[in-house]
Amino acid sequence: MTTSSSSAAEKNLIMKFWKWSFIIFVLLLTFGVLFYLNQEENNTYILKTLELSGSAKVGDTLFKMNCVGCHGISARGLVGPDLHAITQRLNDTEIIKQVTEGLTPPMPSFEIDPQNMSNLLTYLHSLK
Ligand code: HEC
Repeated sequence: MTTSSSSAAEKNLIMKFWKWSFIIFVLLLTFGVLFYLNQEENNTYILKTLELSGSAKVGDTLFKMNCVGCHGISARGLVGPDLHAITQRLNDTEIIKQVTEGLTPPMPSFEIDPQNMSNLLTYLHSLK
């Protein structure tokens, strides 16, 4: 009697274990897929940006609208650092990530299409 009831309890426990294992597995899989898709999207964005040729003039305008508050009117630095010679320290991919991913608060992340990102990059390259 006691053995059969304890084995029923055991079975119940085993079922619970598998149920939760399954739930955790599905959750991990979902996050994994989302993470992968997000990476893919970022990579496509970066590749697209690097393919385009930008205009320093438009980039300058974009910079004056979005960045001068922190980086100064001539990009000499204010709250944010001086951006002259930034293109010698960071490569284009790193700069794109800096602008679009918001990895270093208080600098926000910017939603910017590839053409305008390319314009900004060209502007930053024009600062010597
Ligand atoms: C709210 C203020 C703010 C705004 C707006 C802002 N930045 Fe920044 N930015 C910062 C700060 C602060 C840092 C330094 C972050 C750190 O290194 O921890 C930074 C860092 C950077 C860097 C890396 C500099 C380095 O030496 O590593 C680049 C490139 C940059 N910003 C570009 C831009 C561009 C382009 C824009 C406009 C699209 C912009 N930022 C708008 C505050 C800002």
